[in-house]
Amino acid sequence: MSEHNQVKMVEMNYDKSRPAAENPVKIQDLSLRDGHQSLFATRGRTEDMIPVAEKMDEIGFWAAEVWGGATFDTMHRFLGENPWERLRTLKRYFKKTPLSMLLRGQNLVGYRNYADDVAKLFVEKTVENGLEIFRTFDALNDYRNFETVVPVIKACGAHFQGCICYTLTEPRLGGDVYNLDYYLKKARELEDMGADSICIKDMAGLMSPYDAYELVKALKENVKPLIHLHSHFTSGMSPMTHFKAIEAGVDIIDTCMTPYAYRTSHAALEPFVMSLLGTNRDTGFDINALADINTILEKEILPKYKHLLDDTKVSMIDINVLLHQTPGGMLSNLVNQLREMDALDKIDEVYKELPRVRKELGQIPLVTPTSQIVGTQTVNNVLFDGDGERYKMITAQVKDLCYGLYGKTSVPIDAKLQEKALKGYDRGENPITCRPAEVLKPELEKARKEIGDLAMDDEDLIIYTLFPVTGKKYLKQKYGREEVPADLKPITLEDVEKQLEMVKMAKAGELIEKPNAENIPEKSESARTFNVFVEGEYFEVGVDEVGGSPMITYAAPAAPVSPAAAAPVAVQQAAPAPAATPKPAPKAAALTPAPAAGSGTPVKAPLPGMIIQYEKNVGDTVNEGETIVVIEAMKMENALPAPASGVIIAVNFKSGDSVAKNDILAVIE
Ligand code: CO
Repeated sequence: MSEHNQVKMVEMNYDKSRPAAENPVKIQDLSLRDGHQSLFATRGRTEDMIPVAEKMDEIGFWAAEVWGGATFDTMHRFLGENPWERLRTLKRYFKKTPLSMLLRGQNLVGYRNYADDVAKLFVEKTVENGLEIFRTFDALNDYRNFETVVPVIKACGAHFQGCICYTLTEPRLGGDVYNLDYYLKKARELEDMGADSICIKDMAGLMSPYDAYELVKALKENVKPLIHLHSHFTSGMSPMTHFKAIEAGVDIIDTCMTPYAYRTSHAALEPFVMSLLGTNRDTGFDINALADINTILEKEILPKYKHLLDDTKVSMIDINVLLHQTPGGMLSNLVNQLREMDALDKIDEVYKELPRVRKELGQIPLVTPTSQIVGTQTVNNVLFDGDGERYKMITAQVKDLCYGLYGKTSVPIDAKLQEKALKGYDRGENPITCRPAEVLKPELEKARKEIGDLAMDDEDLIIYTLFPVTGKKYLKQKYGREEVPADLKPITLEDVEKQLEMVKMAKAGELIEKPNAENIPEKSESARTFNVFVEGEYFEVGVDEVGGSPMITYAAPAAPVSPAAAAPVAVQQAAPAPAATPKPAPKAAALTPAPAAGSGTPVKAPLPGMIIQYEKNVGDTVNEGETIVVIEAMKMENALPAPASGVIIAVNFKSGDSVAKNDILAVIE
């Protein structure tokens, strides 16, 4: 190892200012993107970033990651915010610090590969709005999915950071697939593509300190770009892992400000600043300035988000990630999915099935969107397989993966599974081997026609193209054609105080008593709903302003959910978990026009979800096994086959409807 990399103490005179370090560790702050994405489901609002932005700009960060990942989706869907506006706003405050984003390669900030025309316009507009560093990854580490975006990033003069998603099949680095050679090979591919820096993206916190040392040392010796480590705290190893990486000569590490650190987020910055003080790798950061920022976050910002934190566990470390290598966010998704289906007792089977499914699907890394793809299919297998048959219900995304639409898997997909998945697949039964986007038709012109004058500029057009349903809804709100629902609006510190007041009242038993039925005032338009958690019980409380003081118009123990179900899911690199927002109650089966007994074969919902579309209508003739309806659960689509041949005599729901398990979706006679 070179002298340059070794961490050593330098002469310090504590009365005077610190000497500048010879090779300071560069730091990227993640608080305003991965931090709140990991801890409170990406719900951080722009107005809550502004109070610390200028102070953070003074610290000397290598970059501030503020955009991309799940922010784009969450902002327009749950916060009523324009993602582009956040970028422009933060750029005004971060005058010296480059802004960076997490770009999911050809998936951009969504969950599927988009066509090349969309990818190009997205990158151009992102640079125009103030972004300078593109941290780019592909869930399969198939860098053909970088081929469209990288030349645009370079042409715009931005920084291309190529990621290698870090995953394992063994407890430590090694084995047949994910060994040192694999990572070195991937790093060389990125170097050849012109990467300005290379990031090891350890999204589940699987990297152990000595593996980090070995890997970083090998990378420093073999490739020229800066080496950057991104390792989540989830398993508890990350501060040690970062420290060994620093000893091995890593150039840049990712941290969060203390209030946004730990749990499924990242190591905190401040302990590194102190630990490296007086060494040749001293960050040079002013610990007092950091403390000031922390005070603002702790006192003025975080109280507004406290209700979103998963406080159901005392432990900060997720032991499951060490035992099963199931990333934190994915695990909460699985648990929620099982709970919705009254099958929580099957969690151990899920743990057993998951590595098997992952292996059969080509031993792929687990990160958005592959973590959702593998997770949902695993649950489907546990719930629906039987009679010696596996993969009875294959999601549309697994079919796409088998077709090659996400790219090349680390090892070949199980041939029997691939054949089964592609039987009758609409793009064809023979998988592709080309770059996935080559089979995708341009999308922008079609989208432009569909959205019409609701898209005023290219930024609007991108919102709609990436998220047709929720994006369109957002644009209607943006231009005043639809009202912004109250639950999308921010809460204030005063709201938080009211909430605490109610918790107090609930503890005193004053919330549960209902006033006389005839005395209940009408719930007004301006009533705000609060979720109140009191020692394991969860209340939904509506509050109306009457003559200036809050009045509780209703308070009821909310649906039979545990606080864990009501709490948001901290999703690492994942889609905003549906569980993080109260779901519309699935339609009661009683509301569904049920056919008279014996009048046909019902097509029942095998799981709760949302109807994407009906492939058949009343009067259509169907053969057994043909797809009747596609329903979405946990962002994955499931095509439901006809249980019998005949004619459709009833279709009971429409696109966009939520359905409960066993709801009768259609009837065949
Ligand atoms: Co991350």
